[in-house]
Amino acid sequence: MELSPRLSKIAELIPRGSIVADVGTDHAYIPVYCFINNISPKAFAMDVNKGPLERAKANLEKYGFQDRAELRLSDGLEKLQKGEADVIVIAGMGGLLIRDIIDRGCSAIDSNTQLLIQPMIAPVELRDYLFASGYDIINEYVVREENKFYNIFSVKKGEAEANDFNRYVGKNLAENSPETIDDYLEYKIRICHKIISGMKKSENPDTGAIEKHQKELDVYVKFRENIRRGS
Ligand SMILES: C[S@@+](CC[C@H](N)C(=O)[O-])C[C@H]1O[C@@H](n2cnc3c(N)ncnc32)[C@H](O)[C@@H]1O
Repeated sequence: MELSPRLSKIAELIPRGSIVADVGTDHAYIPVYCFINNISPKAFAMDVNKGPLERAKANLEKYGFQDRAELRLSDGLEKLQKGEADVIVIAGMGGLLIRDIIDRGCSAIDSNTQLLIQPMIAPVELRDYLFASGYDIINEYVVREENKFYNIFSVKKGEAEANDFNRYVGKNLAENSPETIDDYLEYKIRICHKIISGMKKSENPDTGAIEKHQKELDVYVKFRENIRRGS
């Protein structure tokens, strides 16, 4: 089974031998891939909706892994106990939903748990939540898939360094995703310019919001210059 580049990167980050909980599993692509490639001995395929869980069941049966995965109808981490999973994957959802799932399900997360999270939107808000709530983003990755960029965070409990670089760009991003970083920064810079010029055209420009986006833009521009200079 071939995974998309986004899911493939997530699977690559799961340490061999880990028990995985895939929250919002839908087709159970991650658990199936982990079984086929001997990454996981066991997995929890979890979803809040019955339809996706049916699809997960059908896919696990198709590949003969129905006995190795436990299907759980669960709102976020509600049906996962602390220590049951080594790695928790929460991918393909909005950053604010992921934030709420982690916040409501924090009792399932201990100091050994690795979280692999991939927000579709609102990465900065999600990072702010993590940094303020006792989590550290150990590594960030950016993956390109069909001209879209996807941020992936590898997170553990711990003290974070919540500086502007880690808030907007992400820790170790250039080292972890050297093939994508330049195009990604170009894209982020273009979006920031677009937002700022749109805001400035408004009858009552929100100067606070413009300043916020300008700050974000400055971080991307400076980082891109540093990369291009090789420093
Ligand atoms: C777009 S799919 C992503 C599927 C897969 N994780 C991926 O990245 O390709 C989002 C899935 O998350 C599930 N979901 C949404 N809110 C959830 C929640 N609070 N708890 C668990 N699953 C949720 C949806 O039912 C859906 O199956």
